[in-house]
Amino acid sequence: MIQEYDFETLVERHDTASCKWDSDHRRGLVPMWVADMDFKTAPEIIEALHERADHGVFGYTILTDEYYEALINWNRRRHDWEIDREWVIGVTAIVPGLSAILRALTVPGEKIVVQTPVYNCFFDVIADNGLKVVHNPLKYHDLTYTMDYEDLEIKCADPAVKVMILCNPANPVGRVWTPDELKRVGDICLKHGVTIIADEIHCELVYEEHHYTPFASLGEKYRDISITCVSPSKAFNLAGLHVANLIIPDNALRERVNRAVTINRVGEMNPFGVSGLIAAYNCGETWLMAVNEYIYDNYRFMVEFCEEFIPQVKMCRLEGTYLAWMDCSALDIDSAYLGQLLLDEQALWVNAGTMYGPDGNGFMRWNIACSRVVLTEGLNRLAAFIRRHH
Ligand SMILES: Cc1ncc(COP(=O)(O)O)c(C=O)c1O
Repeated sequence: MIQEYDFETLVERHDTASCKWDSDHRRGLVPMWVADMDFKTAPEIIEALHERADHGVFGYTILTDEYYEALINWNRRRHDWEIDREWVIGVTAIVPGLSAILRALTVPGEKIVVQTPVYNCFFDVIADNGLKVVHNPLKYHDLTYTMDYEDLEIKCADPAVKVMILCNPANPVGRVWTPDELKRVGDICLKHGVTIIADEIHCELVYEEHHYTPFASLGEKYRDISITCVSPSKAFNLAGLHVANLIIPDNALRERVNRAVTINRVGEMNPFGVSGLIAAYNCGETWLMAVNEYIYDNYRFMVEFCEEFIPQVKMCRLEGTYLAWMDCSALDIDSAYLGQLLLDEQALWVNAGTMYGPDGNGFMRWNIACSRVVLTEGLNRLAAFIRRHH
């Protein structure tokens, strides 16, 4: 442990307007679904928010020099990525930002490529803007996933395909794409004039020998077809503060997106988001390293638990994100039905793989950014379910 932080003690989240804990009031529910952490954020961030609250005036807010510097320095220091201040567009969150980007770059009826299984809101944002989803399914083997470039090439060759949404690290399959993989995707998109939205919201949550490479840092030609979406929200558990950034190096692309962000009014920040981001990027690194270590220990514990007590299920390799992808195909139950049964019979709330595309059937997604006690209880409930049904 790099420095002592307490991730073990349960923080009571009931009655805090928590989406994860307060959406369903059945007694004793173990919620391991929506992607936020059960941990308190870094002490330095809490302190900065206290200070901001003590000021007592919460008027309209702009992005300050300190905000840009924190973002730029963090990416330079941690990801070896040089961002120009002019490239940055602040938005309230990534999903509203995605919606604005799609409006800026497409007209209804056009097509967007995603690599399934993938974050479910991509489907909604695409459909809500009158666009069509084109699936480029990932290939599953040996408890991990790789990309299907041949299929991607065919999909991108369709002139109606204008944009690809790339998820790196990938929710829910847990891959952190390598520079080679990213370049192959980039080359295909370059060849066919497809813009890449790189949703890199999980980029700080990467384990062991795996290394996050910002798509836009791969070289100028890739950079100029890219829109990168980042936020401290996942890594520092700040989703409720609503602060995110779109990083768009190409001037023409940025102007179009900027206009859509203005029209859709998704660029107006709040004072806590601004203070939270500055504190996270300037002072949160030690806490981040500790939380990553705890989460990865949770993952290892989960692998061992499954091997020992429920060998019917298998954990996919987790390279990044705190979303663990469990192969339940041997149970031979449709994932949506399995999710419902676990909720009804065991009061365990995990996400059915089918939420992330049809190829997610046979899998369940577990949010393991929780104390070991909660994780153990969740796993015990799954084990009890399996004993009962198999
Ligand atoms: C890949 C990905 N993008 C975006 C989001 C949501 O981002 P935001 O809350 O900033 O809209 C999530 C949340 O789980 C996610 O996994």
